[in-house]
Amino acid sequence: MERVFGDYHLSDDRGRLDLRVIHDFLARQSYWAAGISPEVVDKCVRHSFCIGAFHDGQQVGLVRVVTDYATFGHVMDVFVLPPHRGRGLAKQMMEWMIGHPDLQGFRLWTLGTQDAHGLYAGVGFTAPAHPEYLMERRRPDVYR
Ligand SMILES: CC(C)(COP(=O)(O)OP(=O)(O)OC[C@H]1O[C@@H](n2cnc3c(N)ncnc32)[C@H](O)[C@@H]1OP(=O)(O)O)[C@@H](O)C(=O)NCCC(=O)NCCS
Repeated sequence: MERVFGDYHLSDDRGRLDLRVIHDFLARQSYWAAGISPEVVDKCVRHSFCIGAFHDGQQVGLVRVVTDYATFGHVMDVFVLPPHRGRGLAKQMMEWMIGHPDLQGFRLWTLGTQDAHGLYAGVGFTAPAHPEYLMERRRPDVYR
């Protein structure tokens, strides 16, 4: 499926994604996946629902959802390249994601963010009602 947003195109076609752009952003500019390899990026994209944002045919943004398509979605790797920020593109991707027909009826959506809480609050995310119910097994140095 595709969506037009001003000069931008959004697509949920994994085949349209530019893995070089995604890898370059994640490995060099993200605070959460620095040093990730192209092979790991390729593998995680192949096993996720993704929305790409495109300008003049070039990829400029991404949202990736790890999901079983029935009960649960975890939002990851949300970015918009710097020249395209501040124009509502991330909000547009979030709104399409949360209303997307392939991602309905979930019991739980989750995500982690250092500072973009407002972006996700716009589509209904809140702080966990019971943080004490949540557990994690974190390996921050896994790509070093
Ligand atoms: C965060 C990011 C994806 C936002 O993209 P964008 O297209 O510029 O965002 P939008 O123009 O759609 O606006 C986002 C909305 O969320 C809000 N917001 C909250 N936290 C934010 C943050 N840390 N960065 C940007 N916007 C933020 C903005 O104020 C804006 O709301 P408003 O329109 O009511 O003012 C982009 O800044 C980015 O790629 N940052 C680097 C990667 C990153 O931090 N990703 C998120 C990881 S959780």
